[in-house]
Amino acid sequence: MNVTVKTPDEQAKMRVAGRLTADVLDMIGEYVKPGVTTDELDAICHEYIVNEQKAIPAPLNYRGFPKSICTSVNHVVCHGIPGPKRLGNGDVVNIDITVIKDGFHGDSSRMFPVGKVAPASQRLAAIAHEAMWLGIRQVRPGARLGDIGHAIQTYAEAQHTSIVREYCGHGIGRQFHEDPQVLHYGRPGTGVELVQGMTFTIEPMVNAGKRHVRLKPDGWTVVTKDGRLSAQWEHTILVTADGHEVLTLGAAERS
Ligand code: MF3
Ligand code: CO
Ligand code: CO
Repeated sequence: MNVTVKTPDEQAKMRVAGRLTADVLDMIGEYVKPGVTTDELDAICHEYIVNEQKAIPAPLNYRGFPKSICTSVNHVVCHGIPGPKRLGNGDVVNIDITVIKDGFHGDSSRMFPVGKVAPASQRLAAIAHEAMWLGIRQVRPGARLGDIGHAIQTYAEAQHTSIVREYCGHGIGRQFHEDPQVLHYGRPGTGVELVQGMTFTIEPMVNAGKRHVRLKPDGWTVVTKDGRLSAQWEHTILVTADGHEVLTLGAAERS
């Protein structure tokens, strides 16, 4: 394992990349409505990242991924590929944005309701959101990765939902995916000890039904095996001297 610790200068660059990532998510919200295609959302984000931000959409051509963002609708767990299908009233879509600026990555995703969505869909998105924040609140020097996973798993399972095991958070920096792996389940007091200057994502995938997933033949799209809903939120986190800094907060949360 090769966990990188970012210097203050590198941390400043991560802060910029994180803010740009959040800005894309803030920007795209108003376009998420019934009738829009995920291809259109991809095109809007691509154009904004490249032409306004003068940045790079990291997913494009990453290990062969064909688009600039991931759009995961309803029972799609993660890595949904934008396409010509129109979003419909009552759908819920996760939009996952990764931006490279000045050599450093920011990575964040949010759930967006499409039109009026069912209470059960809203509830699952809210549980995934709270699970992510419970994980984030564990982050400080001396804590261990298992503390994060345990906080997330305990909460999600108490709500009678399940945590996907096959995909996890990750170190991030000059590379999109670096060590360590940040599992969203685990035992307290186990795993890598957190050190000031580490940067990683926390991005729990929470299923309404069972935790098991299946990869579609396109090689990217991950879906729930039982066809039930899945929800995910993601932030990029910096370990600070006395806790953490969330690098991908939206404008409304920054103030
Ligand atoms: N953004 C995803 C993550 O949170 C990774 C997407 S890989 C891609 O790690 F190739 F699908 F973009
Ligand atoms: Co990520
Ligand atoms: Co992501």
